[in-house]
Amino acid sequence: MKISAPRTVCALLVAGLAVTSVGAAVQPMDDTALAAKIAQGIIAACPMADPADEKARDASADKLARFALLRDTLSDPLYWGGHTAGASYDPADSQLTLFNPLVWRRMYLSLFMFPGPYRIERADPYLLLWIPYQFRSKLDMGAYPYPFWHSKKKWDSYQLATQLILVFENGKIIAACRSENQDKTRPYVAHPWDGRWRWTDAKGQEQPHVSLYTYLFSPDNPYVKELDAAYRAFEAAAREQSCSICHSPNNATAMNPLRLLTFPSQSLTMRRNIVAQLQQNRMPLDTGIPDDAARQKLLELAREFAAVGDQALDYEGEPKSPDSH
Ligand code: HEC
Repeated sequence: MKISAPRTVCALLVAGLAVTSVGAAVQPMDDTALAAKIAQGIIAACPMADPADEKARDASADKLARFALLRDTLSDPLYWGGHTAGASYDPADSQLTLFNPLVWRRMYLSLFMFPGPYRIERADPYLLLWIPYQFRSKLDMGAYPYPFWHSKKKWDSYQLATQLILVFENGKIIAACRSENQDKTRPYVAHPWDGRWRWTDAKGQEQPHVSLYTYLFSPDNPYVKELDAAYRAFEAAAREQSCSICHSPNNATAMNPLRLLTFPSQSLTMRRNIVAQLQQNRMPLDTGIPDDAARQKLLELAREFAAVGDQALDYEGEPKSPDSH
């Protein structure tokens, strides 16, 4: 009993801390155990497959969407992008984009396949989880969240980077990056870009289909149609105010982090921030919306989009997002 009692206490502590993260002194052990569990779950969800296999990707997307520990560990929003060579792991030191955690794990993380090993490294104040990956490079163009090949640098990074890096801080994953290390011998798929972010394919299907709510949410989610209508109404009015000039993937003003407003699913990330920005008339940057009736109209549409977005995410069991800031 002398030995088993302290052991029990220790095990309880570890189990408790994995969820709540109290007490700085024991934090390192706790973070490492959490990172290992996350690594094992991600690797199990995304095994190696043919890089053209859409079904394998979709199966991984389903598993990642339902991976509860990952769901509860991802920050909302989460920073994602290529790690800048030589930079620290502070997300502000790389050019990254903000994502809702469900959107990221279902649409983005599912693009990778993991052969198995992983490595955990302490880099105070962060804990880094390195997972070597292979990219699903031969999917249909509409299976990527948007045409990454609009930028050679970005498309090279997706295809040739060798590792995914998850950045943990205080028991949360605050950022995910593709490593700056690249393997130039990997097979490379080239796509032309015709300047369009969204398009309709030969069968009349809107693309990229993975950026639509029908891909993000479960088939039985009752809010999908309403959310799609709310987004389209908001997006059309926002386009009149030039929001899409800055908030699209080419990031014309080098905003850091980038916030995307030009695709349905990605736009969920900022649903509440949009309302706050419009209430304070802070966007478009530097000018606001001079016509108050136009601002009120856009604000109304933004409120509707945020409200239905909350309902749709709640239905999936996603944690409540923090208040807008
Ligand atoms: C001229 C470029 C430009 C245009 C046009 C523009 N934005 Fe922005 N937006 C920015 C920049 C730059 C930032 C980052 C500002 C910062 O970090 O302080 C930003 C930030 C934001 C944020 C995040 C704010 C936060 O801190 O939560 C939201 C939401 C947003 N914009 C919405 C909009 C909407 C809606 C429109 C159209 C009505 C719009 N923007 C038009 C450049 C622009």
